Amino acid sequence: MLTSGGDAPGMNAAIRAVTRSAIFHGMTVKGIYRGYKGLITGEIAEFKTQNVSNIIQRGGTILKTARCMEFKTPEGRKQAFETLQKENIDALVAIGGDGTLTGARIFAQEFNYPVVGLPGTIDNDLFGTDVTIGYDTALNTIMQCVDKIRDTASSHDRLFFVEVMGRECGFLALNGALASGAEAAIIPEISMEKDQLSDILDYGIRTSKNSSIVLVAESEVTGGAMGVAERVKKEYPNFDVRVTILGHLQRGGSPSAQDRIMATRMGVAAIDALLEDQRNVMIGIQNEQIVYVPFSKAIRNEKPINRDLLEVLRITSI
Ligand code: F6P
Repeated sequence: MLTSGGDAPGMNAAIRAVTRSAIFHGMTVKGIYRGYKGLITGEIAEFKTQNVSNIIQRGGTILKTARCMEFKTPEGRKQAFETLQKENIDALVAIGGDGTLTGARIFAQEFNYPVVGLPGTIDNDLFGTDVTIGYDTALNTIMQCVDKIRDTASSHDRLFFVEVMGRECGFLALNGALASGAEAAIIPEISMEKDQLSDILDYGIRTSKNSSIVLVAESEVTGGAMGVAERVKKEYPNFDVRVTILGHLQRGGSPSAQDRIMATRMGVAAIDALLEDQRNVMIGIQNEQIVYVPFSKAIRNEKPINRDLLEVLRITSI
């Protein structure tokens, strides 16, 4: 097993579950360090049950992670395949986001090799699963941060633009806004269709309130919190505007109960899938049930945002 791409809280819970479930079923487990990089360089160690003790509560990933450019080349993937053969590894569990599963898919096809993926990303942008590992914890972190920002925003009667992560997806921004009682969210899915900022300002964001908080998803399309704030400063010079970019603190911290439980269920399901001769599938959760989602669907299809939530946000922010 390996973790790759951006780390996400709950990855350790997944590592623990994959290890223990595999050993429970009589398999040998090896941990590959630094994602696909370690697969190429052979940074690998056998994992016993003790190796995964006392990690369920820890953020980050004990296997470390990396964004690996070599794995994007046929030579890099060939080297990775040779490592797997040398180490007598018969199947791979890859935990990560869109980039990780894209790499897994190409590799599995190229070498006809069994790979099962676990959705590990705070972005929640994988199709076929209601949620991804790390998303709930990141959402809670955003909520706690915005709660704190509100104290100072309301004391100073300021308009705050808070930028959250999401890599061209608005799940964290929209649900973070709902959870923290923010006045609005600017998300790429909608920004592509219309000028959300104009809408928000036309609707009269500050008619009944002296302070406001708008969550902005990081994205070229939204312009990010800085871009939006610059526009507002020009058009409404009387507004006292401030920007906070939450950044990588959204990726850290002890995983929430939901992320731990989900990662544990998904880790066990990954081994079940391999025992059932499944390959090239991502483990997902839909309506509380484990599902197998072909890599091609999980990666290619754009996961839709629930547009009803925008209306809920609009109604509750008057
Ligand atoms: O995919 C997870 C994520 O945190 C995105 O939300 C963000 O755009 C990106 O990773 C940041 O990546 P890095 O840590 O490599 O700068």
